[in-house]
Amino acid sequence: MIKRLRLTLKRDIDESYDILIGHGLLDNIPLDLKRSPVGSKYAIVTDSTIKDIYGERLLERFKEENLNAYLIDFPAGEESKNLSTVEYIVRRLLQYGLDRKSAIIALGGGVVGDLSGFVASIYMRGISYIQVPTTLLSQVDSSIGGKTGVDTADGKNLIGSFYQPKRVYIDPSLLKTLPEREFISGLAEVVKYGVICSRELFEYLESNVEKIKGRDMDTLLHIIEVSCRIKKSVVEEDPWEENKRTILNYGHTPAHALEKLSGYKCLHGEAVSVGMRISGWVAVRKGFWSIDEWERQNKLLKSFGLPLKMDFNSDELIKTLYYDKKVEAGTLMFVLPRRIGEMASIGGRYKIPVSETELRRFLLELS
Ligand code: GLY
Repeated sequence: MIKRLRLTLKRDIDESYDILIGHGLLDNIPLDLKRSPVGSKYAIVTDSTIKDIYGERLLERFKEENLNAYLIDFPAGEESKNLSTVEYIVRRLLQYGLDRKSAIIALGGGVVGDLSGFVASIYMRGISYIQVPTTLLSQVDSSIGGKTGVDTADGKNLIGSFYQPKRVYIDPSLLKTLPEREFISGLAEVVKYGVICSRELFEYLESNVEKIKGRDMDTLLHIIEVSCRIKKSVVEEDPWEENKRTILNYGHTPAHALEKLSGYKCLHGEAVSVGMRISGWVAVRKGFWSIDEWERQNKLLKSFGLPLKMDFNSDELIKTLYYDKKVEAGTLMFVLPRRIGEMASIGGRYKIPVSETELRRFLLELS
């Protein structure tokens, strides 16, 4: 005799949060948290580079406001994005006595944000966290939407959770100290938004290449705000990436594999740029996209100084692609543009299957 007890659980939770964007915001974070607290104690988690540039300064501002705060740092770089660093941060949080009412402040680029968000999602079964992105890439993309995680030896972001931050503070003036290569790398994600969702943004980028490369602050503020609006609306529509949100991964399927194959020597945005050329070509060859628009995309990427090609072995790339989270029932899936500002879908689904034979042929055409 089997007894069946049904435990009924339905989710209806409000996870809304504010994304604040403004020059000079960094120094005002403690005051804002005093007015509108997210935790009773704060751990600023950052990397070894940002600690010296902004970490100590932010900690000082917390002290000036008489807020309880601690600084935790780990070595900068993608190599730190693993479970060992997660354990290290957890132990430091315990040493500082952070409890379930405390909050983490992720101060840094994508690695810091993804890693700190993941720690927040598991520490004492989940505590609050705030994103304070310091790179262009994290300001326009990874700090918003609650994707957290770490890499494994097999590939990028293979362990993780969807866990939304409680607030995001974006200060474009932090980009003044960003190394040139990282700044350019972040522009790949901005071009991506243009291709996937906004012809207007794409055309704005085409018309303002020099101002953007010169880091004109008002121009940067504009492209960051537009990018965040796009990201926000896609995440609002599909927070768990059941369909629409996959469009944000345009170019990322090949990019993640290229990053892994390069031993993470190339930056994420550089791989995304090469990945957009590859995915864009797949879109052209499968009849979704015009070659003229594909070339226009590549021209814009190139004008920002982004790479369009990388050395790789097609067999190795294809093998690595199977670790992509979009793979379904052993089939490689790509998200593909239909025109600049709009992605293709089949039967309302944005993930489009591409056979290994097709992909091998398309990659050969590109080399
Ligand atoms: N970076 C892609 C996403 O957040 O879905």
